[in-house]
Amino acid sequence: MNRRYRKTIIAGNWKMNKTASETKKFAEELKTLLPKAKWCDVVVCVPAVNIPAAIKAFKDMRVSVGAENVFYEKSGAYTGEVSADMLKDLGVKYVIIGHSERRQYFGETDVTVNKKVHAALEAGLHPIICVGESLEQRELGITMELIALQVKSALAGVPAEKLRRCVIAYEPIWAIGTGKTATAEQAAEVCTFIRTTVRHLYGARIARSITIQYGGSMKPSNAAELLAQPDIDGGLIGGAALKPGEFVDIINAANQE
Ligand code: 13P
Repeated sequence: MNRRYRKTIIAGNWKMNKTASETKKFAEELKTLLPKAKWCDVVVCVPAVNIPAAIKAFKDMRVSVGAENVFYEKSGAYTGEVSADMLKDLGVKYVIIGHSERRQYFGETDVTVNKKVHAALEAGLHPIICVGESLEQRELGITMELIALQVKSALAGVPAEKLRRCVIAYEPIWAIGTGKTATAEQAAEVCTFIRTTVRHLYGARIARSITIQYGGSMKPSNAAELLAQPDIDGGLIGGAALKPGEFVDIINAANQE
């Protein structure tokens, strides 16, 4: 973290978990546990159908609500899809784009990720752009090339003044839901590389101000060490974000000096 130059953001990604009633219950429990003063922004990204319940439940808690996906067209004959304007109108602030599960199971590509980033920014949302390598790619030694490609394609055509609203999340696929966390050194190495990539594209000032999160089995026991890395400005948390107690422990880890 480096709070002098950029925001620390702790975001939960609920994936396909929790009903609207469970969302309300989670928020009530979270409210009793959240620290009064927070030095980080807290975000909860929930399934699309739970967004109205989440907006209502997290109101007055200084917890922002995020979506887990968005479609890039503004409106039209796209059965089952949700537009950025629809999310914005509900009061959504963040939207996860290009999560590896969407790339793996739903045909998301670097091209669609870029279109979605543009659509989200156009609507006034804050995209959380996910990048990350598979175990095979890491073992082949092509992690950095792949990350550079993902970052550059996601940000293609994004003007500097809009980049301030973007968050990049480094999520090594082999660490997601596996209990296998990247070591702080591995995570820091890639997050620093992402900042360098942004610096080459947009210059030092903007690179310094962008929030870069780590995601992949982040939990109370490893959060402090990961967040102590200067280029890791928060977390995108799956499993541990489903339990209010564990989520708050991670928020507290980000709250330290
Ligand atoms: P886990 O924290 O469950 O590994 O999930 C990480 C993730 O995919 C967040 O987007």
